[in-house]
Amino acid sequence: SYVIGADCIDVLDRSCVEVCPVDCIYVGGRKSYINGNECIDCGACEVECPVEAIVVDRVARKDPDLLAHLDDSRAFFELPLPGRAEPLGDPGGAQRLGEVGVDTSLVAG
Ligand code: F3S
Repeated sequence: SYVIGADCIDVLDRSCVEVCPVDCIYVGGRKSYINGNECIDCGACEVECPVEAIVVDRVARKDPDLLAHLDDSRAFFELPLPGRAEPLGDPGGAQRLGEVGVDTSLVAG
C-alpha cells in the first residue's frame, strides 16, 4: 500500500483523489488518508502529489515519521473518529462517502 505523510497537512491538494482509480483516498480535515485495504498499489497518487507527501509503505517503514502516519492511516479507518459512533471501515469509495472533514488526533494536533 501507499501512505500520505505529514507534508499533506494543511495542503490537502486533492490531486491524488482525482487520479486514484479505485477512489480509496479519503479527505479528512487537514490531510487525506489512503485506505490500505482498498489501495491496489498502482502508484498514480505518488506521482501526482505536488508536495511529494505520498510514499510506498515499504519505504515509509524506514522513516519514523512516515511510519507513524502509516499506523495513523489505519487508525483513521479502524477507530471511531470525532463525531462518529462507528469506525469508517472500508467504505469502498471516497466520492460516495463525501469528505470526512475530521482527522485522527495525530493530525488534528
Ligand atoms: Fe489509489 Fe494511490 Fe493506491 S492512486 S490505488 S491510493 S497507490
